[in-house]
Amino acid sequence: MRTDSAEPVRLKDYKAPDYLIDSVDLNVKLHPTAARVVSRLSIRPNPNGRPDAALILDGDGLIVKSIAIDRAAPADGVVVVSPQQLALANPPQRPFTLDVETEVNPTANSRLMGLFRSGSAYCTQCEPEGFRRITFFLDRPDVLSVYTVRLEASRAEAPLLLANGNLVEAGELATGEDGVARHYAVWHDPFPKPSYLFALVGGDLGSIHDAFLTRSGRRVALGIYVEHGKEPLAAYAMDSLKRAMAWDETAFGREYDLDVFNIVAVSDFNMGAMENKGLNIFNDKYVLASPATATDADYAHIEAVIAHEYFHNWTGNRITCRDWFQLCLKEGLTVFRDHEFSSDMRSRAVHRIADVRALRAAQFPEDAGPLAHNVRPETYYEINNFYTATIYEKGAEVIRMLKVLIGAESFSRGMDLYFERYDGTAATVEDFISCFAEASGRDLSDFFRWYRQSGTPLLEAASSYDASAGTFTLHLEQSSKPTPGQDHKEPFVIPVALGLVGPDGDLPLKTETDNAASAREIESGVFVLSTPQRTIIFRDVESRPALSILRGFSAPVRLDYAASEADLIRLIARDSDSFTRWQAAQTYASRLLTRAVADIGAGKSPAEDYDFVDALASVLTESADPAYAAQMITLPSEADIARDIGENIDPDAIHAARFGLRRAIGKGLSSHLHTVYARLAPDGPYSPDAAAAGRRALRNAALDLLCAGEPEEGAALASRQFASADTMTDEIAALGALAQTPGETREAALKTFYRRHAHDALVVDKWFALQAMLPDADTLSRIKDLTGHPAFSFANPNRVRSLVGAFATGNLTRFNAADGSGFDFVVEIVLCLDPKNPQVAARLLSAFKSWRTLEPGRKALAEAALRRIAVRDVLSADVRDIVDRSLG
Ligand code: ARG
Ligand code: ZN
Repeated sequence: MRTDSAEPVRLKDYKAPDYLIDSVDLNVKLHPTAARVVSRLSIRPNPNGRPDAALILDGDGLIVKSIAIDRAAPADGVVVVSPQQLALANPPQRPFTLDVETEVNPTANSRLMGLFRSGSAYCTQCEPEGFRRITFFLDRPDVLSVYTVRLEASRAEAPLLLANGNLVEAGELATGEDGVARHYAVWHDPFPKPSYLFALVGGDLGSIHDAFLTRSGRRVALGIYVEHGKEPLAAYAMDSLKRAMAWDETAFGREYDLDVFNIVAVSDFNMGAMENKGLNIFNDKYVLASPATATDADYAHIEAVIAHEYFHNWTGNRITCRDWFQLCLKEGLTVFRDHEFSSDMRSRAVHRIADVRALRAAQFPEDAGPLAHNVRPETYYEINNFYTATIYEKGAEVIRMLKVLIGAESFSRGMDLYFERYDGTAATVEDFISCFAEASGRDLSDFFRWYRQSGTPLLEAASSYDASAGTFTLHLEQSSKPTPGQDHKEPFVIPVALGLVGPDGDLPLKTETDNAASAREIESGVFVLSTPQRTIIFRDVESRPALSILRGFSAPVRLDYAASEADLIRLIARDSDSFTRWQAAQTYASRLLTRAVADIGAGKSPAEDYDFVDALASVLTESADPAYAAQMITLPSEADIARDIGENIDPDAIHAARFGLRRAIGKGLSSHLHTVYARLAPDGPYSPDAAAAGRRALRNAALDLLCAGEPEEGAALASRQFASADTMTDEIAALGALAQTPGETREAALKTFYRRHAHDALVVDKWFALQAMLPDADTLSRIKDLTGHPAFSFANPNRVRSLVGAFATGNLTRFNAADGSGFDFVVEIVLCLDPKNPQVAARLLSAFKSWRTLEPGRKALAEAALRRIAVRDVLSADVRDIVDRSLG
């Protein structure tokens, strides 16, 4: 129920723009509170638009200083202007120019959309609808223009002036009456682009520079701009950028197209980063790293985000989106590309597991709750709320599935076709998929349901073995629960990669049907379920095999298959597929944990299971890859367990069950874990590479289990590690281990950590987050105190996310506390943030997305908390949208 009368934007209402803007000349005079923007637009009627239509330019809070049409003042009533709109009822039906001068206040811009300040620097964020906060425009992605941008500023305040494209001119200006020495720079971007890719930066920043030689021999000047003094921390980002540029040439045949590529890191940023043409702007969290301040996970994120934004140059910029419903066209595809890049840079097997963990943690709950939406949505109230795990991560999974389905070769031909055919255009998901249909000769219309239907399908598998006939019969069935607005669903096209595992490994696959499609299935091991159910009979199977199903996580589905525990143990030991081998261990653990939760709920103490502990012992002794072994011994998270249980969730029972299993493994594997811990002690110089990171990961996973199994010995190891750690990975892992036990040692370690890192906001964020995720009863009061800490600020999104966000999404027991205090706190913060930064407020509020799965008491409290927001008269569109859908 919506309390206002807002109407959603609908995909089916899409109309081509009535006017086009071929070029934009901007003249921006930077000023802390009154920046002046003079824009000259070359406008013409769109031959594909409606003749004589009114011209309505978007604005958002703009103050107009002057307007001219074809350089002359318009007659009275020709232009109707408000802060939100500039309208010409009868615009010329020929090319004409429109000049508009506006004034904006960058310092007062707390939404961090449009032109704002981060520290003393000026920067912009225009995606999706921020350009209208700078000047009036057809602020929609299907209007592509060539931009020339002249920037002017005080030389002292902003010696650096950057915009999209190539620098064409720069120089000094006569000192004004105010005595301020001013200068200017002119940037020109020859590639037509939508307004959301516009960017400018002005400020006093340090920088590092390098160059990249493209495969056709062009030299690209690379620059990364950071706060003075932080230049050395940008080295890994630069290295990642060069590797990404080289990789896109070999993996996708994509070469960079401008003479310069600049990255600017700012500390106040709503999202991770932004792919503005030739001038990416980053949350500094995804740029700055040193071994002493960044964990291995941070390094991996920097590599991935740098690559992601760079890859957008082709998937997003050269080919952009027709409208915001097509957001996954650039985001899903670019995530797919950055996953492929990271897999090539690191261990593909380990990377796949990490990606699936992340998908299940962030996207599955979205798909299972009130905020579920299509990968290609059909309506929205607030587009900012659609930068979601569904658009990004599920969007990437769908493309990955497409590749599994049609094969790598057809996939690669489809990509080439897409780049060739749609370069320079604003495309749709249909355009994209049509390239693969053409390249593979396959009909992909049913596959398209992945874009049109929300929700995670359930794949149920059942099998039987007939020893006398030597047949193994597999029955597959898919079903999908209703999601908001979708009661009934058509079957999905699900590629099911599978294998049969005998005592010594994979068995050859043989089925009975003999046609091209089944030959292809046998050959690839990928069986396609495109109907509600399907039965496959495997022949010549000598002994009962263990079924290894959904290899590589070949489709984003939930799997229900009652494998015997003996089969799971066989898969853990023998499965040739590294993903299903890991999954077998997770499934086993999940089963034990689900049972333990039920036992705890019934007042019984959970039974121990030695077979699982033994299987993990063999993993530790036999696994050659520490990073992979670390994944194998890391139990499902509390949120994973909650998802597996699905309903009537009691977070305290889940916490107790997981702690109990960690303790049992820590005790049972004690000697193995000690051996691993000692064997993997740091040796030699630091390297951020995957092998070195893998050793640290396994050693710290061992430490975590040891602390659960043998609290005193574990704490002693952790204390020693905390005192001597020379990497942030080891230091924060030790602190986390010490923090498991309340008391003096923990508080002293927290103090020490803060003293060591007080000067580094990104490290202090880790300190906030770690405390926000403590399972103790007094965590909430600790967090409330921390909101008053001098290092905390509600104005900075990274601080808010690390303290309040970590609490709401990373602390299952305390956020969902039985007395409702966690809900109340988050609601209070959302309401206080909303007037200042609605995007960050709405993002926080989406932490309630699984409230309906809670047990009745907590569920009622969560609903009451959401209703307290819903009844407010004044809410941003962002928060209004999330709260109404959450309750819907
Ligand atoms: N396109 C950016 C990316 O690479 C995300 C920008 C989203 N910004 C926003 N305010 N919603 O993923
Ligand atoms: Zn992106």
